[in-house]
Amino acid sequence: MIDFADVRKIFTGSGGAALDGVSLTVARGEVFGVIGQSGAGKSTLIRVINALETPSSGRVSVEGVDVAHLSAGDLRALRRRVGMIFQNFGLLSSRTVSDNVAFPMKLAGVARAERQAKVTELLARVGLTDHAAKYPAQLSGGQKQRVGIARALANGPDVLLCDEATSALDPDTTRSVLALLRALNQELGLTIVLITHEMDVVRAVCDRVAVLERGRVVETGRVADVFAGAAHAATQRLLAGLSGGG
Ligand SMILES: Nc1ncnc2c1ncn2[C@@H]1O[C@H](COP(=O)(O)OP(=O)(O)OP(=O)(O)O)[C@@H](O)[C@H]1O
Ligand SMILES: [Mg+2]
Repeated sequence: MIDFADVRKIFTGSGGAALDGVSLTVARGEVFGVIGQSGAGKSTLIRVINALETPSSGRVSVEGVDVAHLSAGDLRALRRRVGMIFQNFGLLSSRTVSDNVAFPMKLAGVARAERQAKVTELLARVGLTDHAAKYPAQLSGGQKQRVGIARALANGPDVLLCDEATSALDPDTTRSVLALLRALNQELGLTIVLITHEMDVVRAVCDRVAVLERGRVVETGRVADVFAGAAHAATQRLLAGLSGGG
């Protein structure tokens, strides 16, 4: 469903390559983790999928379509099919929970009645029905991320990109947000690409994982196999950084 073929990304003025020949495939309906230390290129990897960044060379395709060379209309269509959530939630602080979730539908020209019905459905799905009229500042971190998830689902994407989506949350809240992502994956068939620096997150929710180091994929496979084998030093370092729980 998502395919990287020898993707390189060099930011002008920076020393090395943020992505240095990345090739990988994410299958439809899987939860695919990308793990690596700070600066490994994780955010860059996820941002080339919805064309927030453009590769310097190589090709990223979603359902066979090269995402780097789209018309403005096709780019809007891609962004509707590929939702995204962030570490810092990215909510509009002056708008209510309902209006935050409705916002992408408004931009897409969805009629008001249909927007309202969809907001009601999405807030129920993420467990925020009672918080619809609140503002982001009145919510906990976990609730804010649930708003972020509902908003990302507003235009009915088939892919959800998660950039350190639980890194600002405590362990219990992280578990409940990951459980929600897993449920969305199973119930809606949503394909999820999740980047994190925490092995615990990968273990909790991912089917397969790629380990990224200095812009290169140094290991990839089923989560259990990568954890058991941990052939590469980068994987061993990430495993050694596990916070208890074995
Ligand atoms: N817009 C940019 N301009 C210049 N260099 C950039 C830009 N974005 C990222 N980089 C560089 O590319 C490399 C990879 O950055 P990236 O943000 O993808 O890493 P990351 O794995 O997401 O790190 P973190 O865990 O800290 O979020 C870093 O060396 C970074 O400084
Ligand atoms: Mg990042």
